[in-house]
Amino acid sequence: MLRKLFDCFWNRFVHRPNTIANNVKVWSNWDWSRHGEEWSNDAEWKQSLVDHVLRHYLTGRETLLEIGPGGGRWTEYLAPLARKLVVVDVTPVCIELCKERFSNYSHISYVVNDGSDLSALGDIRFDGIWSWDVFVHIAAADIRTYVNQFARLLNPGGVVVIHHSSGGVNRIGWRSDMTAAMMQEFCHECGLVLERQFTSWADGRFRVWPDLPPELNPDTISVLRKPAGHAGG
Ligand SMILES: C[S@@+](CC[C@H](N)C(=O)[O-])C[C@H]1O[C@@H](n2cnc3c(N)ncnc32)[C@H](O)[C@@H]1O
Repeated sequence: MLRKLFDCFWNRFVHRPNTIANNVKVWSNWDWSRHGEEWSNDAEWKQSLVDHVLRHYLTGRETLLEIGPGGGRWTEYLAPLARKLVVVDVTPVCIELCKERFSNYSHISYVVNDGSDLSALGDIRFDGIWSWDVFVHIAAADIRTYVNQFARLLNPGGVVVIHHSSGGVNRIGWRSDMTAAMMQEFCHECGLVLERQFTSWADGRFRVWPDLPPELNPDTISVLRKPAGHAGG
């Protein structure tokens, strides 16, 4: 009861809104010297996520898009999979960091956007889209704008793997108002199929938040797919 009252108070009066401007402020001032590895629980956890989620869904997909690469924690694994990789981030510092870190790759393109618009990508069509630890901080209204554009930007059969908050605003990890149910709605609106939502992988051996009891886990991973017969794009 006390906890509920506290959460309610915190969410209403203390939570810094997950606006685009607040995201730019937070991530522009972040210390990126560890490339975001401070968010990897440990090496085994990270490798399991790469093998069982990232590579599982994105291997064999030629054209990939990553939203919010930060210091390139996942870009490192996406780059060797793709023939073409586009990374988009709202924070210029992050794009500069990735440009420098991955300067040996000639098939990566870099875009700074306004936090929801992907029109700079023009006519490119993607076979896969990845985003981790990004949509957890983005307000649902902006996520809706992104998801609508994914429907246009994906090739038929293309897949999106997004980690986002599942239960609305949460003081754990500056989570936005996004929910698991909203993702279903957003997909429905634009003709994408919400194929799967999950919080653990490798037969339950690894979880998004290994150090929290499952009932307090604030996130989910959604897998969206553009059906082969989709009219758009
Ligand atoms: C917590 S960091 C995660 C970075 C990286 N994905 C990782 O897992 O290490 C959040 C990243 O998302 C980016 N970001 C936040 N809001 C965004 C938005 N609306 N559109 C694009 N990128 C955004 C930030 O600039 C930052 O690079």
